[in-house]
Amino acid sequence: MRRAGELEEVVTALHRAGCVAAEEEARELVAAANCAESLDGLVARRISGEPIAWITGRTTFCGLELRVDTGVFVPRWQSEVMARMAVGLLPARGVAVDLCTGAGSIAVVLAAARPHATVLGTELDPLAAACARRNGVRVLEGDLFAPLPLGIRGSVDVLTAVAPYVPRDALHLLPRDVAQFEPNLSLDGGPDGLDVVRRIVFEGADWVRPGSSVLLEVGSDQCGTVAGLLERAGCLAPEVIEDPDGDPRGVWARMA
Ligand SMILES: C[S@@+](CC[C@H](N)C(=O)[O-])C[C@H]1O[C@@H](n2cnc3c(N)ncnc32)[C@H](O)[C@@H]1O
Repeated sequence: MRRAGELEEVVTALHRAGCVAAEEEARELVAAANCAESLDGLVARRISGEPIAWITGRTTFCGLELRVDTGVFVPRWQSEVMARMAVGLLPARGVAVDLCTGAGSIAVVLAAARPHATVLGTELDPLAAACARRNGVRVLEGDLFAPLPLGIRGSVDVLTAVAPYVPRDALHLLPRDVAQFEPNLSLDGGPDGLDVVRRIVFEGADWVRPGSSVLLEVGSDQCGTVAGLLERAGCLAPEVIEDPDGDPRGVWARMA
């Protein structure tokens, strides 16, 4: 049984530690406390900066519940707009590939909305790949396109990726929780942040079919560069993906 005032105490502790969503997180921590780990222990972990999703082992993405294992990049609400667009572009029996799938958030949304489609994820980090698998994703472990079956080469209808895109010299500007806890492999995009994205654009041209859709999440100041890369790779009229607040979250384009 819970002690009276327990929730309020946790809210106060989280507020003091600078948590922006203290009330919501306090409720999650109180619900997650169990015999194996005390509420005090969970609160101490959160105050140290550990992501709430690692502590509770879960998050929600596009209204779906996902497991998030410790050490795996936590899916962000900012990526939901791209996931929803990708659903709208994927034919009922089409083929979708989500590169850099992490916990598998985008692939899970695609597979839930298009149960007859083929939805594959690829992921380099074995820990993240295992997490995506537990989330029900058909995930192939390896570097970008390398683990994909050759049989789908040239026939992918929708290609999505939230690849690492933080410029290396901006990594230190990330919020403390992110920089200290989330894996560098999920963040570091090389000198201009676009090392992995550039590879996706140019290697991807061989995997997608004519008329297919390519959707890439990047930073707002990278959208112009990525649109140019997509055009050079043979895509038509790239457009910026905006979230409901009008903030740029990435770029999408159709392959000619
Ligand atoms: C920013 S995280 C995004 C994860 C997931 N798509 C999401 O939105 O939650 C980037 C992911 O790409 C993976 N990754 C980095 N380089 C990769 C590569 N060359 N091939 C496949 N996955 C890669 C990382 O391990 C990490 O899980």
